[in-house]
Amino acid sequence: MNELPVTLAMTGASGAPYAVRLLRALNDAAVPVRLVISKTGWRLLLEELDIAGEAALREQTGDWSKVILYSDDDRGATPASGSSPSRGMVVCPCSMGTLGSIAQGTTRSLIERAADVVLKERRKLILVPRETPYSMIHLENMLRLTQAGAIVLPASPGFYHRPKTMDDLFDFVVGRILSHLDVPHHIGPRWQSGEP
Ligand SMILES: Cc1cc2nc3c(=O)[nH]c(=O)nc-3n(C[C@H](O)[C@H](O)[C@H](O)COP(=O)(O)O)c2cc1C
Repeated sequence: MNELPVTLAMTGASGAPYAVRLLRALNDAAVPVRLVISKTGWRLLLEELDIAGEAALREQTGDWSKVILYSDDDRGATPASGSSPSRGMVVCPCSMGTLGSIAQGTTRSLIERAADVVLKERRKLILVPRETPYSMIHLENMLRLTQAGAIVLPASPGFYHRPKTMDDLFDFVVGRILSHLDVPHHIGPRWQSGEP
């Protein structure tokens, strides 16, 4: 199962540290990654983490031997094809712009097309939005995507595990994403019931 690739898209919502942590975790688990980063996704990597391009991203995300980086302009690249097997797609972080485009099926970029394909092939689509507050349009788009089979997994870390560092917060969200991708991991808190 770990040999099936996952498409990881990074878009221009705040939350680049989640995406970088997720890519490192997928690389550590030797899961093949088809990586696509929108223009504003690159801007957020720079603004939030001082990551200025592919070389800097490689430095912070482990072994890239199973990563292929695609241009978001290339709507004919492998992630755009439904006949290429995959375990699904994560958009992390997911801007409300990209979320709205996926909800409408516009497919004006590789990220939008790849997400459209994942939905039509009934594979797993995990969207990690970060926006506050939500407008009615955001909420309607999230409802529409949920009804179409996507999983909306907001970047909303909990605090019941008493996080001590920012990494603890990133791990909370990334652990939930990995669980939904069926990637075995030991990242983030485990539920302890407190029952005898
Ligand atoms: C510094 C910065 C922070 C942003 N933060 C968010 C955010 O948290 N959530 C969001 O939905 N959009 C955010 N945006 C707006 C999106 O980047 C913008 O809508 C963009 O068109 C999204 O394009 P993309 O989805 O192709 O990356 C931010 C933009 C900038 C420049």
